[in-house]
Amino acid sequence: MDLQPSLTIGILTSGGDAPGMNACIRSIVRTGLANNARVLGVYNGYEGLIDGEYRPLGARDVGGILQRGGTILQTRRSSRFMEKTGQRDAIRKMNEAGMDALIVVGGDGSLHGAQALHEQGVRVIGIPASIDNDIWGTNIAIGVDTAMNTIMDAVDKLRDTASSHSRAFLVETMGRNSGYLAVMAGIVCGAEVVLIPEVQSTVEEVAQSLENAYKRGKNHSIVIVAEGSGFRATELAKSLDDMDVGFKTRVTVLGHIQRGGSPTAYDRLVASRMGFKAVEALLAGQSGVMTGLKGRGIDLVPIADVIANKREVNMEYYEMAKVLAR
Ligand code: F6P
Repeated sequence: MDLQPSLTIGILTSGGDAPGMNACIRSIVRTGLANNARVLGVYNGYEGLIDGEYRPLGARDVGGILQRGGTILQTRRSSRFMEKTGQRDAIRKMNEAGMDALIVVGGDGSLHGAQALHEQGVRVIGIPASIDNDIWGTNIAIGVDTAMNTIMDAVDKLRDTASSHSRAFLVETMGRNSGYLAVMAGIVCGAEVVLIPEVQSTVEEVAQSLENAYKRGKNHSIVIVAEGSGFRATELAKSLDDMDVGFKTRVTVLGHIQRGGSPTAYDRLVASRMGFKAVEALLAGQSGVMTGLKGRGIDLVPIADVIANKREVNMEYYEMAKVLAR
């Protein structure tokens, strides 16, 4: 005799893609199936939720995706879902499809959407995924570790040229309004200067730091420029060349390379654990919470708290990066 499914769980990825989203989808599908749930993949994020783009996902549908970047469910930034009418239409479509609950994998904007659904009586669990690591309530979001490794690999390569030509390389990183990626990249790449949104710096200060590095006998320098820092690496480089700081400059804007690629072991692990925990939480009757890495465990944090707070950069690490650049 076939058992009736205990629950029909929808899953969507939303906002900027992040490496590890696929590992998370795989974990949700297989954990759901193991618990006799039916899993519906929602395509194209909240846009697809409104338009009813749902397909059942079986264990084999998520085979061979653990190591793939991007998201097999596709993702969108949906302005329609920000409106009450979009949310209402989505809830109607979910009801028509018999979807009892939804797991949202994405960043801050996606979690705002999840909270809106929760407040209208939909059972929702959030999972943080964004290379920016700007989501409150978790030590790390899915995708951050891979992005950091991508930046590190790129800067290691640039350093070969920087040191061969005695140049200063200005490397622009993503992160939106957060300096997290830039600060951590500064440490793991041994950057001489790190420019972040959280600290106002002037061109003169950057020039002074590079000239000091030159005088201390360094044969090259790395400047990490966070995209939200207020500086554009290309313009900054021109100014520095005009000011003659000792090194000639070159610029690399890493851009969307930081969002792609096969997830690291760490991202696969965090994504798998969070997917597993999210299904467990749904089965235990939870709603309106996000999975968050705390210490060694995965906790559940109210999404209302997550979106009411901003994850701040730990400035101790910013100061440490400066000391290590001596
Ligand atoms: O949130 C991830 C992120 O890559 C940010 O770092 C960046 O500011 C933004 O998304 C870029 O968005 P898009 O891919 O829509 O250009």
